[in-house]
Amino acid sequence: MTARPNFMVTQAITADPVYEFASEVRAGLTRPGQRELPSKYLYDDVGSALFEVISVLPQYGLTRADERLLQRYAHEMVERLPAPVIVAELGSGSGKKTRYLLEALDTRQQTRYCPIEISHTALTMCARELSDIDHISIVGFESEYLDARRRSGQHLLVLFLGSTIGNFDRPAAAKFLRSVREILNPGDSLLLGTDLEKPIPQLIEAYDDPLGVTAAFNVNLLARINRELDGDFVLDQWKHEARFNPDARSMEMHLRSKQNQVVAISRAELSLEFSQGETIWTESSHKYATREPFRIAREAGFRCVAQWVDREWPFAENLFIAE
Ligand code: AVI
Repeated sequence: MTARPNFMVTQAITADPVYEFASEVRAGLTRPGQRELPSKYLYDDVGSALFEVISVLPQYGLTRADERLLQRYAHEMVERLPAPVIVAELGSGSGKKTRYLLEALDTRQQTRYCPIEISHTALTMCARELSDIDHISIVGFESEYLDARRRSGQHLLVLFLGSTIGNFDRPAAAKFLRSVREILNPGDSLLLGTDLEKPIPQLIEAYDDPLGVTAAFNVNLLARINRELDGDFVLDQWKHEARFNPDARSMEMHLRSKQNQVVAISRAELSLEFSQGETIWTESSHKYATREPFRIAREAGFRCVAQWVDREWPFAENLFIAE
């Protein structure tokens, strides 16, 4: 008989999510110069579902490249890890691509898998997707933070896939890697997905697809503010824009105001004037040079011991070991 995996969700105790959302929206929209909104708020239930659609669009090859590498090389990756390992995944999403690694681990050990997600829906989808793998227990954490607790003798493998690191600017990415390193023990590992540099027209198409799914994903952030913070953004007065920033080597998503307008957001106690053409910056996706992960690993106290690169859509899976 197949042993059914158990699944548990632990909720992080956050102060007051609406208050936190309201203060971050207030800070971002009232800052001098370029207004901005934190990209993590793109992922409510609607945004997470739209992102799942983006990941199957022909123009957006990133998620498929990530998945191809895990499918092809999971056994090679697992061979390089100490045993036994506990797997913690930051921003697990649906958990679909993690299956390959867990199945590879399944052949050698009973594995505890801890998906860490801010979206409750994504956590539930993840548990459903992986529920048929034999020797796995799933403990989900509805949280933004990594918890590195384990029994002595167990090593931790942290997964940060899908180039989510690219959504941090480079100094923040370096700081994030250092903070992960701080809670790991020597010999623990981090599998990091990084989207690689590619021609700009290809990137523009990937972040401004002809079906308008990415546009809906971006505009949903304003719709979310309307829903959760009692805002009155008129959605069709905003236009999605994707542009490449050569200095930062990143794709940026913006929302451009089509006209002069006033927007009120009651729960953030805001009334804002936007002029025609001004933008709100909602996300950056940094692209990496192929060798860059080796350097950022060293600077954060890791060693990049292996890298697997997808040729169809330049993307790298990098295995870092904590020194
Ligand atoms: C989740 N993250 C890596 C995606 C990216 O490519 O930066 C989010 C995304 N934004 C627009 N399309 C996809």
